[in-house]
Parts: sequence; C-alpha cells; structure tokens
Amino acid sequence: MMRILGVVGSPRRGGNTEILVDEILDGAKETGAEAEKVILDELDIRPCKGCFACSKTNECVQDDDMNMVAMKMRQSQVWVLGTPIYWWGPSAQFKAFLDRWVSIPRTHFRGKRIILTIPSGGGSESYARHTVGMLNDVFNYLGMEHFATILAPGFGARGEVQNAPDILVAARRAGKKVINKI
Ligand SMILES: Cc1cc2nc3c(=O)[nH]c(=O)nc-3n(C[C@H](O)[C@H](O)[C@H](O)COP(=O)(O)O)c2cc1C
Repeated sequence: MMRILGVVGSPRRGGNTEILVDEILDGAKETGAEAEKVILDELDIRPCKGCFACSKTNECVQDDDMNMVAMKMRQSQVWVLGTPIYWWGPSAQFKAFLDRWVSIPRTHFRGKRIILTIPSGGGSESYARHTVGMLNDVFNYLGMEHFATILAPGFGARGEVQNAPDILVAARRAGKKVINKI
C-alpha cells in the first residue's frame, strides 16, 4: 500500500494551499493510495534552536508534534508539500517545519518523492522562484526526487484557486501520476 502525506503550510483553513494539497491527495487516492494530511499551524512545531544536539543523538531536544510528523514522513513514500508565498518565501510555519528536518537522519529522506504546491497572490510565477529554488536545493541535497511542482499565481483570496479548473486538474493528475509511476 502506497502512502502519501500532505503537509499544509498555510494557517488559512480552506485556503488555496489546502485546496491544492487536497486535490493532489484526491488524485493519489483514486489510484488506491492511502492519504494523510497535517496542518502545520494546528500543531506545536517549534523553531530549530540550532543547538546541534541532534547531530549526536539523532533526536531533537524539543519534544513537540514534529516527532509525530516525522513518523508520518517516514511511513510515506510521497510527500505533498504546500506553502503559500509570504514575502517571496514560505510561511513561517513551513520554514519552522523545514528547519526541523535537520534532526532527522539523512537516510529517511533518500528516494522520497515530492510534489510541491505553492499559491501566491501576485500575478506572476516569479514570486515563488526563491521558494522553489530553495526547496529544490534542499531536495537535491537530501537525495529526494522532486516529481512535480504545481504553482498557482494570482490567487489572493481564500479558496480563490477553486475558480481555476486547469490548475485543479493539473494537481489531481500529478497526484495520480506520482503513485502510478512508483
Ligand atoms: C504575510 C503575507 C505575505 C504575502 N506575501 C506575498 C508575496 O510576497 N507575493 C505574493 O504573490 N503573494 C503574497 N501573499 C499572498 C498569499 O500568497 C496568497 O493569498 C495565497 O493564496 C495564500 O494561500 P492560502 O490561501 O493557502 O493561505 C502574502 C500573504 C500574506 C498573508
């Protein structure tokens, strides 16, 4: 049984990030995959302290919900990572989550397949370029496979991406393909 984990980096429930993540997960479910979703803003995931205690213990000194999310990451072959663009970058919730990857053994990342999805309010895809570039470098560094990116520029209001059937279809299709190709 293939497992796919959706990570929503927006604090806005029913917002564009969650809609896109849901669409990708629904595509995966159509192929029989088991999908789970976490809403970072509703979890206690504190920022990295930079203490590097984890480099000796493989464990974070902060005992919070990141342990539970890391377990779900480990159990899933595919991760759908969604963050809105906040000031040309990811949301603070998403960045805190990403920074905490430092305590997870490198072997837990190798070969994981990623679909990245990023809505932004501005009309140009270029608002997402630093975030896509940064995450690409992280994925390469950790030996992960960046399978697809679903961008949705020009959607500022809550749920506005619902009015863009072409993007929703692309998202659902990516979710289907990512499972079928394993
Ligand atoms: C603090 C903040 C900063 C933002 N900065 C940008 C930005 O730099 N570029 C952009 O295109 N949109 C920006 N936006 C708009 C969001 O990316 C857009 O509304 C997106 O659809 C939000 O996704 P959500 O519905 O999942 O929360 C910003 C929104 C917030 C709240």
